[in-house]
Amino acid sequence: TTPILFDCDPGHDDAIALVMAHRSPAIELLGVTTTCGNAEVEKTTANALRVLDFIGARDVPVAAGCHRPLARPLVLGTADGPSGLEGSPYLPPPSRGPIAQHAVDFLAERLLGAPEPLTVVATGPLCNLGLLVLKHPEVLPRIRRLIWMGGVFYRKSEIITPTEFNAFCDPEALRLVLDARLPITMVGLDVTMQVLIEAPHYAELAAIDTPLGRLVHDWLRFYEKLHRNSMGVGGAMHDPLALALAIDPSLVRTRPAHIAVELAGTTTFGATVADFWRERGEDDNAQIAHEVDADRFFKLMFDLLRESPA
Ligand code: BDR
Ligand code: CA
Repeated sequence: TTPILFDCDPGHDDAIALVMAHRSPAIELLGVTTTCGNAEVEKTTANALRVLDFIGARDVPVAAGCHRPLARPLVLGTADGPSGLEGSPYLPPPSRGPIAQHAVDFLAERLLGAPEPLTVVATGPLCNLGLLVLKHPEVLPRIRRLIWMGGVFYRKSEIITPTEFNAFCDPEALRLVLDARLPITMVGLDVTMQVLIEAPHYAELAAIDTPLGRLVHDWLRFYEKLHRNSMGVGGAMHDPLALALAIDPSLVRTRPAHIAVELAGTTTFGATVADFWRERGEDDNAQIAHEVDADRFFKLMFDLLRESPA
């Protein structure tokens, strides 16, 4: 099993990733840290706790993190509604609070205390990881791999945005992480917009006749609205795909690149600009996911939602 630390901003797709992380026998979920992003950090923290309650994971520590990006005003995501997890009115308030430690100190402590370097999965703006670089540089070699959902690199097909939300929300944090040369795998819109929830997936979900199956179904019906209205497609499983790579890295193909992040643009800040050919004269600083086996990903996701917890 792969022990992981999971930094997220739930968010419907973060919440599904959290369920997968807890349920996968291939993963040991050591702790969850939260950041602002899809909603304010108080809400994303409560959402993480509510989801963990629902799946019977009250023993997983949750540490709340940054309430705003490092150098910019907070911009909230829009897909998940005001609570960050709309469409789940029957999810009760959390039974417990986060631990007393800040996310960044919790991450540092767990990284230092682990017998081996750890995998960190991050599915929100990189506020906490950026702050970790500043506050605890000594622990950075303890990160075996950082798998991050973020960025957009190829500008293929209908992807019309110059920036992806997690990069756009805190581009300075991303820059700090890149400059720290962490071993990062970027799972950007190029691949996550290829794992969309469409009619056959809803049919598969409807067949999961459990409280969790129904909850995820209701989440997705809310979550897909933005995609459906703007692009005519179903909800993208951005964060579940990133998490899935901690279970099975062969779900995507990656290639190395040097990634620069635009900090000075007016309409393009947060853009992740890939150089695959060392034209900038810089060494590669990231692995970029560029092809995904969508069928295998969905099989993994639905298997984890279907199975009774171990
Ligand atoms: C990312 O932004 C958030 O809205 C999602 O949770 C995902 O992490 C996609 O751009
Ligand atoms: Ca997210």
